[in-house]
Amino acid sequence: MGIIGVWYSAPLMTREIKTYFIRTYGCQMNELDTDIMAGQLQKRNLIPAADEDSADLLIFNTCSIRDLAERKVMGKLGRMGRGAKKNALIGVTGCMAMAKRDSLFRKFPHLDFVVGTNNITDLGSVLDEALYTNRQVLRTEEKFEENIDYLAAKRESNLKAHVSIIRGCDKFCTYCVVPYTRGQEVSRPPESIIEECKKLIDQGYKEITLLGQNVNSYGKDRPEWGCLFHDLLRKLDAIPQMGRIRFMTSHPIDITRELMEAIRDLPSLCEFVHFPIQAGSSRILKKMHRIYTKEQYLEKVALLREIVPNVSLGTDIIVGFPTETEEEFQETYDIMKALRFSVAFIYAYSPRKGTPAMRWKDDIPEEVKQDRLQRLMDLQTQIGNEERNSLLGKTFEVLVECYNKDGAMLKGRTRCWKKVIFQGDESLIGTFQKVNIHSFGHQTLIGSIETNNKLLQL
Ligand code: 5AD
Ligand code: SF4
Repeated sequence: MGIIGVWYSAPLMTREIKTYFIRTYGCQMNELDTDIMAGQLQKRNLIPAADEDSADLLIFNTCSIRDLAERKVMGKLGRMGRGAKKNALIGVTGCMAMAKRDSLFRKFPHLDFVVGTNNITDLGSVLDEALYTNRQVLRTEEKFEENIDYLAAKRESNLKAHVSIIRGCDKFCTYCVVPYTRGQEVSRPPESIIEECKKLIDQGYKEITLLGQNVNSYGKDRPEWGCLFHDLLRKLDAIPQMGRIRFMTSHPIDITRELMEAIRDLPSLCEFVHFPIQAGSSRILKKMHRIYTKEQYLEKVALLREIVPNVSLGTDIIVGFPTETEEEFQETYDIMKALRFSVAFIYAYSPRKGTPAMRWKDDIPEEVKQDRLQRLMDLQTQIGNEERNSLLGKTFEVLVECYNKDGAMLKGRTRCWKKVIFQGDESLIGTFQKVNIHSFGHQTLIGSIETNNKLLQL
């Protein structure tokens, strides 16, 4: 009888990776995903590289929200070829991975892997597969699995942390790719959020920003938990030594009276709400599928300002949405003038593949979009300067974060997210100080630390 011999050979790793570099584009959720991926890589004993060119592993954590964001990454990937470190492993993660999937391999043959927003926990196995097989690896599943090791995330700041509470979005605004790139809403269990927040506080973190595409939907997908967003806030506020809590971002339709009362009542919850209106005309809002009218939005703001009189509001606005007339744009302008947002992110509409709005003609000429954008930005600059002027002589609680760019002054933010610079020494970093405002610059308040105890919380 003959002997049948089977030869096993351990697969050979074709490349070795010791250092990594992650370039992040887009929103805070992407920044957090970068921190989570960095945590996984460091568990594998990889160390951060000083720059892209010296990294053995290079990851582009990408954004698809607007055309410009995508073009930046596409340009970068095209230029890179194998121009980075010879033999570097190169991958794309984030929203573009979901939007473009394997077409990225066709366009950029030098890419080694594409990992979608629902698969960041698979990064390790994707790396192994790419290294051992030397083949391009695609991992872009539709369903989000809640098995992320949040506790291992490597954050750059040791004072301010982002904490994910809900992923995905079910709102389907007609212009937006997020429901397609980040999938449906999945809330994270409250115990897991509380555990992470407690750990962060033990480590000395002073400010936690709760993140989600729409944090106000928190818990609606899991009624059995009996924990909606305002319930979660109350649980987090009750953690001993909790510093500040912020949250973003919110859909106006889900901002409830209970949430407004939580902002009023909970000491750690900052009086700032990002409350994106997107457009001032009810016809355009309907076409955007924002599910509120201009009047309903105004009513919510009025109620919020009644319940929390010192609240500051931020907003997002899109100009040049298909068919937007000059009169309809003027409605947006008038609302901005009337509501006086403290912060406004203003964008020109860009059609996104796969969205319902893509079916409509992008009929507002680019010059008109840019003109509308500029008019709103000029208005916002004026409102910002008037607001800063009105704050002269007032005192605010500031979390001291670091030295300002010039290296001479310290920098921090008020509860209402206003940037303040002031004289002081390094020992103040990480403390809360009362700062009296005496002047202001572009987007910045300038003050000095108070010695008496008068404190106005704004
Ligand atoms: N064009 C322009 N702006 C957009 N946004 C989302 N999609 C688009 C698009 N297709 C803006 C919205 C959103 C913010 C994050 O980006 O204002 O609130
Ligand atoms: Fe996009 Fe609308 Fe969801 Fe915000 S609420 S992420 S704009 S679909």
